Amino acid sequence: MAIKKVCVVGSGLMGGGIAQVSAQAGYEITMVDVKQEFIDRGMKGIKASLGKFAEKGKISQADMEKALAAIRTSTNLKEAAKDADYVIEAVFERADVKIPIFEQLEEVCPKETILASNTSGIPISLLASATQRPEKVIGMHFFSPVPMMKGLEVVKSLLTSEETLKVSLDFARAIGKEPVVVKDSPGFVTNRIIPLVMNEAAKLLEEDLAGMEDIDSIVRLSFNWPMGPFQLADLVGVDVAVDLLEGIYQQTGWERYKPTPLLKRMVEVGYLGRKTGKGFYGLFDKK
Ligand SMILES: NC(=O)c1ccc[n+]([C@@H]2O[C@H](COP(=O)([O-])OP(=O)(O)OC[C@H]3O[C@@H](n4cnc5c(N)ncnc54)[C@H](O)[C@@H]3O)[C@@H](O)[C@H]2O)c1
Repeated sequence: MAIKKVCVVGSGLMGGGIAQVSAQAGYEITMVDVKQEFIDRGMKGIKASLGKFAEKGKISQADMEKALAAIRTSTNLKEAAKDADYVIEAVFERADVKIPIFEQLEEVCPKETILASNTSGIPISLLASATQRPEKVIGMHFFSPVPMMKGLEVVKSLLTSEETLKVSLDFARAIGKEPVVVKDSPGFVTNRIIPLVMNEAAKLLEEDLAGMEDIDSIVRLSFNWPMGPFQLADLVGVDVAVDLLEGIYQQTGWERYKPTPLLKRMVEVGYLGRKTGKGFYGLFDKK
């Protein structure tokens, strides 16, 4: 099955990035959101990102214009998705927001259309059960910032067909990613590991084993990580880390995924990281 038209649902951080890399690879994109202002914000982000690539000479001005021209936008999901070959959903990480989208996609998309989700941990089988085509539903878990990160976790549910997997892997490679296939389980692979690191780092801080900046430094210097666990938590969002931990804890009952009280207190007081202008940095680096 050849993919030509891609519909991206959600024009936020991830949806915008996915639309951008897909447009750069030559696909025809329709990016959907619920309000024009969200689409405008998404398009602004795409233009800024392409602009940076052009400034650095990584793409030409003509490539940039071609990619922008390949992205159409819409606030009407049913209209936008009705002739898509491949749909990638990237809306809020809530099953009650994602499921109605899969129900509408089932209604309007041709029966061959593959329906993918960029969910960070909602079971793909749950989203698939909202459709009559579970074999055509798959997880395509991109990483932020999408234009920079090569990794793509491709999540195969119990019912995802080999054909859907093959088309998705071909698509992933065509947009410059290096996909890794994993099974559908809470948190997949990446989110089984990374939130635990943040949780453990927060426990170290609670136990006063070392200062925040020292913990970040020793991790960066010893493991050659580009950033330490607290810098990462501030970047990803402390609330996102808590949601991921709680999501896995609720699905599995594994004690190690219980968010440590410090993380929960930080969410309660709005210290979420970069998105609120203060997180671990802003709280624990106060002299
Ligand atoms: N942020 C990350 O680092 C990251 C990484 C991997 C996966 N994800 C996943 O990607 C998804 C999106 O995350 P994000 O960070 O881009 O969120 P975001 O808040 O930046 O964007 C979500 C967008 O979805 C739109 N939206 C909400 N309901 C909608 C609907 N019914 N129809 C159309 N659009 C709708 C919102 O208006 C918003 O613009 C989530 O499932 C998240 O878990 C995020």
